[in-house]
Amino acid sequence: MYKIAVAGTGYVGLVAGVCFAEVGHKVTCVDIDEMKVEKMKKGVSPIYESELEELMQKNYKAGKIDYTTDFKTAYRDADAIFIGVGTPEQPDGSANLSYIATVARQIAESITKDCLVVVKSTVPVGTNDKVEQFIHDFLVNDVRVEVASNPEFLAQGSAVHDTLNAERIIIGTESEWAKNLLTKIYEPFQLPIVSVNRRSAEMIKYASNDFLALKISYMNDIANLCELVGADIQDVAKGMGYDKRIGGKFLNAGIGYGGSCFPKDTKALEYLARQNGYELKTVKAAIDVNKDQKTMLYKKASKRLITFNGLKVAVLGLTFKPNTDDLREAASLENVPLLLEQGADIYAYDPVGAENFARLYPQGKNGNGHITYVSNIETALEDANVCFIFTEWGQVKAITPEIYKNLMRTPLVYDGRNIYHVEEMQDQDVEYYSIGRKPTNRDQDKELKNLELQIARS
Ligand code: UDX
Repeated sequence: MYKIAVAGTGYVGLVAGVCFAEVGHKVTCVDIDEMKVEKMKKGVSPIYESELEELMQKNYKAGKIDYTTDFKTAYRDADAIFIGVGTPEQPDGSANLSYIATVARQIAESITKDCLVVVKSTVPVGTNDKVEQFIHDFLVNDVRVEVASNPEFLAQGSAVHDTLNAERIIIGTESEWAKNLLTKIYEPFQLPIVSVNRRSAEMIKYASNDFLALKISYMNDIANLCELVGADIQDVAKGMGYDKRIGGKFLNAGIGYGGSCFPKDTKALEYLARQNGYELKTVKAAIDVNKDQKTMLYKKASKRLITFNGLKVAVLGLTFKPNTDDLREAASLENVPLLLEQGADIYAYDPVGAENFARLYPQGKNGNGHITYVSNIETALEDANVCFIFTEWGQVKAITPEIYKNLMRTPLVYDGRNIYHVEEMQDQDVEYYSIGRKPTNRDQDKELKNLELQIARS
């Protein structure tokens, strides 16, 4: 059992802290936000993540985890301090390292015994050399302190599961002492450990995330071509995925990747390459494709509808993926402003993310348009002229083609997540556009009737 302190209680820090406690270590999580600390002591998680609160409460009760703003006490006699603070993207694509620097200085001024500082935050290659130097520069007591790199690969929504069942643990160290200590800390997890030097560990994180982003952008690129030549991206992905060298995961074409990692990490690696006089063409391509992909459906719908002005637009899903309340780089953030600018009357549904979205786009009049948040999908669809699907929430998937047909004024659906089979939408005469697949055939007679009906009603 080791005494571990964790700096930062966001996704990375809190999940790591809770999982260390779960495998038997004694953990103190440090955050600057007192209210957040108080809530965590009561077992309330600051992030929406399954299993997390349960493990927080269980380990807090067992005295294996505590939360504090008092970093000095937490760091003073820790065997290892894990840093999991944010490294937000700056306008030029580089990572903002000021939070890491603050923590590094606090560590240097607090520790009274030999200590391994482990950086879990994603940082540009070479940063941890600097962090180590920085700590040495400010060190108050005569103790041994080294910095190790230990990137994490958890995905939001399954963070605890991903941490406890990781496919690999990457540890990047520069001495046997650091390597042995970190290996022992991870021993109870009983997971494969890949031990490399510090810079390689830092690079593994970026290279992995950017590869996955590239995989998605590649499929989106191929999807767009599929539409033009009459192929079906889902069949293509299935056929590709059987090849173990390609692998069947992360081949889902859609409305582009979002979240806190892929967009940030692709830009950061591209920036790092540029800084080193190198052009990282593949990653640049992934970024470019993703940018266009996000508004692909909006552009299609614009051509089909002439205007959105005064139309009731159902928006299903606001978060960047299901099972999270995170909106970062979500497709909704690109599309909703465009729809509002056009004067759309939006009815938005998201089981978890609506509250966060409403902070950015409050309910009511918004620019030229209007936005209403609804707690059930049927209300959004009732009498709607068009529907956009941005997130594949289970609740959205549960909506059958008949429901679109029966509720919408004109059953016209733009699906950014390929939730439905084209054939089932066709059977219900829903006009359906998705990604990398043929649209349903439009029944011209029926459309004309719909239009007549619409005119008669208004
Ligand atoms: C990702 C990585 O999976 C994780 O290893 C890393 O540590 C952080 O970044 P996360 O951002 O939480 O995790 O979500 P993920 O499930 O990977 O999805 C990212 C985005 O890619 C989402 O917008 C998702 O919709 C999209 N995606 C994913 C696709 O469009 N197609 C796919 O096949 C997979």
